[in-house]
Amino acid sequence: MALPQYFYRYLSRNKSLLRRGLKLAASAMALAVLAAIAAGCGFFGDKVESAPAPVSGSSIVASPDGKLLYVANGDTNTVSVVDAAERKVVKEIAVGKEPRELAVSKDGKTLYVTCRYAGSVEWVDVDEGRVIGTAKPGIEPFGIVASPDGGRLYVSNYRSGTVSVIDAATRKVLQQVKAGDNPRALALTADGGTLYVSDYLGARTIRFRTDTMEQLGISQLAASPDVKDQKKSQGIANTVEQLRLTPDGKSLWEAHLLTNTDTPIQFEEVIFPALSVVDVGSGAEDTKVRKELFKAMDVKDKFGKTTIVSNPTDIVFSPDGKKAYALMGGSEDLLVFDLNRGGRASQMIHHLPGDYPIGMVMSTDGRELYIHNSNSHDLTYVSLPASDEDGGRAQVDGKPLRLIASDRLNAQQRLGKTLFYSANSDDNPFAGNNWMSCASCHSDGEVDMLTLTTGKGPRNVPSNVLAFETGLFMWDGSRDDFTDYIHTVQGEMGGLSDVDPAEPMPADKQKLFDALEAYMRMPDAFPVPQSPYRTADGKLTAAAERGKALFEGKAQCITCHATDALTDSVKAVGKGGKLTTANTDYLHDVGTVSKTDTDYAGDARGNFTNKRVRGLYDTPTLRGIYATAPYLHDGSAATLEDVIKRAGDEHGHTSELSDMEVQDLVAYLKQIE
Ligand code: HEC
Ligand code: HEC
Repeated sequence: MALPQYFYRYLSRNKSLLRRGLKLAASAMALAVLAAIAAGCGFFGDKVESAPAPVSGSSIVASPDGKLLYVANGDTNTVSVVDAAERKVVKEIAVGKEPRELAVSKDGKTLYVTCRYAGSVEWVDVDEGRVIGTAKPGIEPFGIVASPDGGRLYVSNYRSGTVSVIDAATRKVLQQVKAGDNPRALALTADGGTLYVSDYLGARTIRFRTDTMEQLGISQLAASPDVKDQKKSQGIANTVEQLRLTPDGKSLWEAHLLTNTDTPIQFEEVIFPALSVVDVGSGAEDTKVRKELFKAMDVKDKFGKTTIVSNPTDIVFSPDGKKAYALMGGSEDLLVFDLNRGGRASQMIHHLPGDYPIGMVMSTDGRELYIHNSNSHDLTYVSLPASDEDGGRAQVDGKPLRLIASDRLNAQQRLGKTLFYSANSDDNPFAGNNWMSCASCHSDGEVDMLTLTTGKGPRNVPSNVLAFETGLFMWDGSRDDFTDYIHTVQGEMGGLSDVDPAEPMPADKQKLFDALEAYMRMPDAFPVPQSPYRTADGKLTAAAERGKALFEGKAQCITCHATDALTDSVKAVGKGGKLTTANTDYLHDVGTVSKTDTDYAGDARGNFTNKRVRGLYDTPTLRGIYATAPYLHDGSAATLEDVIKRAGDEHGHTSELSDMEVQDLVAYLKQIE
């Protein structure tokens, strides 16, 4: 019975192989002719090189011959070398702290790795399996691409706000140019002439001509206009995770979020995924082709309902440019777009195996996609149809391949990190219907630079840096225990709906909160950002030293911004020495109340004893403050100058400061780490 079927499959497979063979032969011929013309030599000249293609930085790249894959394991400070066909990890090589992206030399012998928290780019000798050199281009190097001739490396320094050009041979930093506030993803045209940089939080695309590193332009991804139905995609573009040029080099695709800041934060109405397309010729976005949920990004489930996807992290194109594969890091899905057929999503692999997929690379023959799952440290293989005509579909191919020998996080911290980044509702009971994760607002555990609308009034998304060292939680200090976030989980993320917040947390759910807390308490989960305003050797500048004296002296800042954490909120404890919302001695009115702030009646978890009066706030820490604009609970101060200029004597003692002293104070604030 099975035989005829088998036979049929065998035949059709061979047919398609034959077709592929013919196509390959035809294109090889064309290439050979082109090469011959270009070189002006005989037809049967030297070996034919494959046409250069655009490149992007990624946590996973392939060797020039496509046989090996290299993966940056951010958590274990290693790079894995994988034999793609054998599905085997050949080597795991130790590198600096938090490797994020890699590039490969033309001969495939050297890897260049950005190590974000080590502040380095590292040269790895693949054969020897060790680091052979280092450059220190800036604070938190993130993206990296190599020029087509292999001679230069371009690196984005996330905190320094710069792009560095580095000589691949000598490891010398040749040039540094300013590139927005948080440069992150990089894409380089096939000819190596133009470099695109994503300014991550602000969703700007900056273009450089690489010969001079002169800036060619900056374009802002548009906001998607408000629509009546608040469950439909709308909002401000932010957090651009990846940039990819199409194979023809004509468009640049960007994977990012849209955040709706003007409707009260509610599940299903604040965060939306999007893929935007910038026209390379004009440098401007083609807003008509933006792919959003409910529009082009729409795959229905078996009940005819749209399947929700979230947090796009990468995009890869088929070599012929007919298909785009988009990776959804939050909901852990792969979406396939048919670019010849109106560009809508034609297929989705829902809930891929592996946790928090962030990068992909395609095999040279276009038949396999390798997906890097950064939280489960494994590689998912997806097989792709030979061609459009086969009507084939992408399919998960086998079990994921484990990339590391051992995790640096313990099991509880690992669970916590996985929960933090996951919007996959099958795995994460915090995330309702695959909409969002903690990281959808706290990007990388930090800020998203946006102020959301809440029942209490506008609320600036705070950073999670030092969240457990800074006393009470929330701008109004209305939470004292991490399980109080059940209110965030239920109201904003649509999860844990069966939990009664007024009751003790059920043990199985308590475990999840404990895991999240264990992860967020790790000192290197989200380290305090180093300040780019300090001197080259990391010291306070002279102006900042003068500012520090003012801060601790006549400006009287230190009365509230006290202790190591620079907040007195750590003193808001009860009799047993434990933090309590009942201790309101350390809430302050510093004259910053906004018209739309309201009193807070408290919540079920706090037994309604955590009532708050509008205008009284918990002192925020100032460590790493340079990186968290805008400021104040309602985001009403765009800069640190604005905070001080508004302060008068209600907020510290600033009325008697000269302009020069204000500048010194600001210099200090920008350098607090
Ligand atoms: C929809 C966006 C959004 C999501 C999703 C979100 N948060 Fe928040 N978070 C905020 C905003 C806004 C505030 C400030 C609210 C306030 O003070 O009233 C906040 C405050 C916090 C704070 C307090 C920081 C401090 O020092 O006071 C912590 C900690 C925190 N969130 C952690 C989390 C965790 C953990 C998750 C996931 C379980 C999460 N958040 C999900 C937007 C979000
Ligand atoms: C009486 C206590 C108190 C004193 C004194 C004080 N602060 Fe504050 N500070 C606060 C509170 C409370 C907030 C939060 C206000 C809000 O969000 O609306 C705050 C907010 C800030 C912020 C914004 C932080 C952020 O994350 O948005 C900065 C910057 C700041 N203070 C700097 C200073 C400086 C500089 C001084 C001295 C001139 C000072 N503060 C004196 C209590 C104080």
